Amino acid sequence: MNTAIYPGTFDPITLGHLNIVQRGLHVFDRIIIAISHEADKKPLFTVEERLQMLKTLFSAESRVEIDQFKGLLVDFLKHKKVTTILRGIRTVEDFEYEYQMTNANKMLDPNVETVFMLTDGIYGHLSSTLIKEIALLGGNIKAMVPDVVTTHVQKKLQAMQNKPS
Ligand code: COA
Repeated sequence: MNTAIYPGTFDPITLGHLNIVQRGLHVFDRIIIAISHEADKKPLFTVEERLQMLKTLFSAESRVEIDQFKGLLVDFLKHKKVTTILRGIRTVEDFEYEYQMTNANKMLDPNVETVFMLTDGIYGHLSSTLIKEIALLGGNIKAMVPDVVTTHVQKKLQAMQNKPS
């Protein structure tokens, strides 16, 4: 089995991420989408909520597994007995960040290879932060995220608005 791990924060998953998974399935037999517990980004959704969203989204795709990890990505790869990381690149800025991360991961574990795919141009401007900002300001995010995400974002924002301050 030719398996790759696609790691990220996925707070929330966007059509850009989905683009990478769908095209990745033409290259790999199996993709494990791995949600990072990294708290630095102050995520809108808990890891459990993100797991739920992703499991719903890929419920019909037996070649996609959804998981989560704490700590180093290379340790998670070892735990899953996988040596390939799949990453999407949108812009030159992404490349610089990925270059750093790839080499750091390689130093931590020389067996690990990172495979990059260019995100299709129509999604090149998307980011999870941008989408959350648009939704918070009342904008329509339907063309940017899978339907299940639109529903979850709307519910989350409603819950936040109903919360007593
Ligand atoms: N389409 C649209 N948007 C995309 C995208 C795509 N194909 N790929 C990435 N993005 C966006 C994401 O939405 C995200 O937006 P945000 O910053 O607004 O949340 C942004 O680009 C960055 O995403 P990504 O590059 O996937 O980074 P990440 O922060 O989601 O994930 C980890 C980074 C988790 C993979 C990395 O920090 C990691 O491996 N951490 C584990 C700890 C570790 O091992 N550290 C050492 C590694 S060197």
